[in-house]
Amino acid sequence: MKIAVAGKGGVGKTTLAGTMARYLADQGYKVLAIDADPDANLASALGFTEEDLKGLIPLARMKELIQERTGAQPGAFGGIFKLNPKVDDIPDAYSRTRNGVKLLVLGGIPKAGSGCFCPESALLKALIHHILVRRREAVIVDMEAGLEHLSRGSTRWVDAFLVVVEPGQRSISTAWQIRQMAIDLGISRIFAVGNKVASEGDRRLIEEGISGIQVLGHLPFLQSIIEADKRGLSPYDLDQRVREEVGKIVESLLQLVNP
Ligand SMILES: Nc1ncnc2c1ncn2[C@@H]1O[C@H](COP(=O)(O)OP(=O)(O)OP(=O)(O)O)[C@@H](O)[C@H]1O
Ligand SMILES: [Mg+2]
Repeated sequence: MKIAVAGKGGVGKTTLAGTMARYLADQGYKVLAIDADPDANLASALGFTEEDLKGLIPLARMKELIQERTGAQPGAFGGIFKLNPKVDDIPDAYSRTRNGVKLLVLGGIPKAGSGCFCPESALLKALIHHILVRRREAVIVDMEAGLEHLSRGSTRWVDAFLVVVEPGQRSISTAWQIRQMAIDLGISRIFAVGNKVASEGDRRLIEEGISGIQVLGHLPFLQSIIEADKRGLSPYDLDQRVREEVGKIVESLLQLVNP
């Protein structure tokens, strides 16, 4: 199961990606969590400590690795470099593991059509392709907000897009745009999760706003999630309610993706 978590800025992509990965690991799945946001913060939602992350550098900034694998200096433009660099050892060699979740920090995702034919982009593209097509484990990709990187980017290899929606027209309209991109990419499976739902009215607003996109479930607005973020902890460790609600969402996803 390979899932990309997308949605408007601030809707809760990282919170959901992190807690879903933890739930899957608790169920015995091998889990690889990919932080594809240049403003990386998936680690704390997963429950990694600063100590765990000491010395961890986002892959896009690992100059020596990029040069060793592609044969060219990062930032080199228009030069000659390998388009199919060796990447199969990277997920294990350059990740950190805690609570059964392996975390890989990309430092961004190559933007399709940005014209960046540079070595770091070639390495990341090959790596994402390898992870999404070859590796046999549950993969959760925490995406950057915005749509540009989704349009023709490397995410076309995922099994499903999971769009996070909060009660509000802006995130609903982003969800529709993402749905259209998924269709254009040939990804037929797109699911929504409501987040920060505080009332029956909120739930209705989301479900009516995105009727046509299948809703997996809703995560309530919980003070403990805000508290966890303040303290740099995973809400999964702080609140039984989060574990239960995220569990229900993942179980419905599993039924649809691996029936
Ligand atoms: N269910 C919830 N209840 C209360 N607060 C929440 C909930 N979900 C997320 N939040 C809070 O909303 C803020 C944004 O969440 P998060 O970082 O997960 O969103 P994001 O979509 O990943 O944001 P970005 O687009 O910046 O990457 C955080 O402070 C988080 O604690
Ligand atoms: Mg985020």
